[in-house]
Amino acid sequence: MSRQIQISLPSTGDDEWQATREPLTTGWLTQGPKVAQFEKNFGELHHVKHALATTSCTTGLHLILAAMGIGPGDEVIVPSFTWVATANVVLYCGATPVLVDVDRNTYNIDPADVARKLGPRTKAVIAVHLFGLCADMDALKAVLPAGMPVIEDAACASGATYKGASAGGLGLAAAFSFHPRKSITTGEGGMVTTNDDRLAEVASMLRNHGAAISEEQRHKGPRPYLLAEFNLLGFNYRMTDLQGAVGVVQLAKLTRFVAERDEWAAWYVRELAAVSWLRMPQRPAHGNHAWQAFVTYVDPDTAPMPRNEIMEYLQRKGISTRPGTHAVHLLGYYRDRLGMKADDLPGARDCDAHTMAIPLHNRMVAEDYRYVVEAIKEIA
Ligand SMILES: Cc1ncc(COP(=O)(O)O)c(C=O)c1O
Repeated sequence: MSRQIQISLPSTGDDEWQATREPLTTGWLTQGPKVAQFEKNFGELHHVKHALATTSCTTGLHLILAAMGIGPGDEVIVPSFTWVATANVVLYCGATPVLVDVDRNTYNIDPADVARKLGPRTKAVIAVHLFGLCADMDALKAVLPAGMPVIEDAACASGATYKGASAGGLGLAAAFSFHPRKSITTGEGGMVTTNDDRLAEVASMLRNHGAAISEEQRHKGPRPYLLAEFNLLGFNYRMTDLQGAVGVVQLAKLTRFVAERDEWAAWYVRELAAVSWLRMPQRPAHGNHAWQAFVTYVDPDTAPMPRNEIMEYLQRKGISTRPGTHAVHLLGYYRDRLGMKADDLPGARDCDAHTMAIPLHNRMVAEDYRYVVEAIKEIA
């Protein structure tokens, strides 16, 4: 085995290490000035009014739904081909996730199926910008009743755009992820963005146990000896300042990371064009793909072997691959809970079975990319 190419590697190093010195030496470790800086910079880069750092995208999505007052008896529409967390957060609120199908070409939510699944209990739709490609928000909004809130699951979409606007400001609110498999990372971490003042205010309180003022205000405010008011049932979803410090440094590299990924994605598309059984991911006409992952589709009718055997073959060559993600309606918990059949959502079923992410990240060098392409061409 001549090389080992990971599916993903975080691009962190000495800069990030140095950034943690300040919080570690000043002693301000939980949400404080570094998180505030990270939020400000993130909001500016994504052109949104409010950015609230959280412990993950999952907790960010939960915060949004909780701040909207989603609860028992409510339904929230979620695409089935997504990370399980997108559906889980609906259940955390006591509401019901209504799973809908996805488009096999974009891997994103299918507006036609959304139109079929809308009902009197529908309170919101979560549009996932899967793998960094923004969902077609205009096509989605066109099938929704006026005023129906759309929430962006932008876990993979830091730096993505849609028709000139940034991910994070395309719906009522959005949540991003900084898990190490994302383009920029804080270890674990997330960011809620919104242009809605009231939602931001409630989400901010819910993030901090329901406290009516932040810890920072409490310490710097005029009467620091008083505890806050607690009028809401909140959570502790605060990001640490260690993570905030890392986030500031990572965010400053995001534009370069995405541009570099975009160049290599275009290169893969060109170099693999001759491999007829492997469909390339769509490069959007409507904006920038953020390329959290480069997810191909193995054509089951023409591929020389089934997808999983191709993945095994590449693994033997030292190349890591992964299925794009899973279809939530096929996962044990959801199968038991919702009683859906695989064929109920055929697009999600097929994406679950046939997608294959190949390595694309900012620690790969040209030889790595060439090696991946050669290995795939050998299969052809
Ligand atoms: C589409 C999607 N939503 C939500 C999440 C959850 O993000 P986190 O791990 O930050 O909670 C992920 C993470 O993989 C994801 O890909």
